[in-house]
Amino acid sequence: MEVLKLEKKFKEVYGCDSEYVFHSPGRINLIGEHIDYNGGFVFPCALDFGTYAMVKIRDDNKVNFASTNFELKVNCDLNDLHYEKKDDWANYPKGVIKMMQDKGYGVKGMDILISGNIPNGAGLSSSASLEVLVGVIVNNLFNDGKIDRVEIVKLSQKAENEFIGVNCGIMDQFAVGMGKKDKAILLNCETCEYDYADVKLLDYSIVIMNTNKRRALNESKYNERRAECEKALEIIRKVKPVKNLCEIKPEEFDELEKLFTDENVKNRAKHSVYENARVLKAFECLNNGDLTEFGRLLIESHNSLKNLYEVTGKELDTIVEEALLADGCDGARMTGAGFGGCAIALVKKDKIDSFIDKVKPNYTKRIGYEPSFYLSGIGEGTHQVKR
Ligand code: GLA
Repeated sequence: MEVLKLEKKFKEVYGCDSEYVFHSPGRINLIGEHIDYNGGFVFPCALDFGTYAMVKIRDDNKVNFASTNFELKVNCDLNDLHYEKKDDWANYPKGVIKMMQDKGYGVKGMDILISGNIPNGAGLSSSASLEVLVGVIVNNLFNDGKIDRVEIVKLSQKAENEFIGVNCGIMDQFAVGMGKKDKAILLNCETCEYDYADVKLLDYSIVIMNTNKRRALNESKYNERRAECEKALEIIRKVKPVKNLCEIKPEEFDELEKLFTDENVKNRAKHSVYENARVLKAFECLNNGDLTEFGRLLIESHNSLKNLYEVTGKELDTIVEEALLADGCDGARMTGAGFGGCAIALVKKDKIDSFIDKVKPNYTKRIGYEPSFYLSGIGEGTHQVKR
């Protein structure tokens, strides 16, 4: 139904029928936060909601972008793609097209209508969803689908780093582009080797809890954390030749701890080392059906992001606290960059309604506005839906 409506909308905007339909998911990360840029393991999965694109190929060099989410329409020329603040959301697709052009891949003119169901600024990767979406469009329509998917993922990350100027790691674009139905991805961010894991939650579900606190100022804090990790790495390298922080085992870190004079830098490194170990344990737990231990690891991860990495904030801490107080919830943690946005909770299936009924008013009482809750299946990575 949604697609039919969008086809109608496309005709309204561009005065002709669309030819192709693509879909790209949002993502959550089960565990492994703020370690993709430290060469660690992450464990994300794609959601079953995301971003649609309706496309028609043009016979000139123009690319036109419209969206059902924003008023702003942007028209640009393939020979002159550059960042413009006023182009707002359209800078993401422009950036990906530019990266693909620069790499020598074919691109032609298009009319594109974008429509997203991922709340913006909620930490569910609406921007990565849009980036990989456009990468897959360019691949399928102009490059016979021959570009390797991981290459599209890397070019999308490059667009975010170099065109948009956000120094993110590879997790979001990878989860969006490589997601598989009902599977989580255990990704080694240093080598890009990956493994799919069945997400057997038995009598549990993952509830996504949106604090509805938009992530503000997160880019500067994000870059600050990255810089602190680089400092930590420099200090450790004086005594131990390592490529990245996540190469260090927790037992080894206890020895290295005394090298640090700056408490913050030490804490950032400690989070990275221990969080990485937690990911591998969590992967095992899901494989063995040990959901209780899996939940405990989620809680440990949140506490580390709160106390050592300091990227949670009042809203995320409150929603996680309230979730853990509710009957049937055996684990909860923030997901994504933090500083607002979403958390996830591991909740017994038959307790979901009472869980929401309890967490919602309690959070609202303490924070002053309501949170939102989403139940999502694990969806497919970016793909062509039609023609
Ligand atoms: C954001 C970034 C990712 C990752 C997470 C934190 O989502 O885009 O690369 O660093 O934060 O785990």
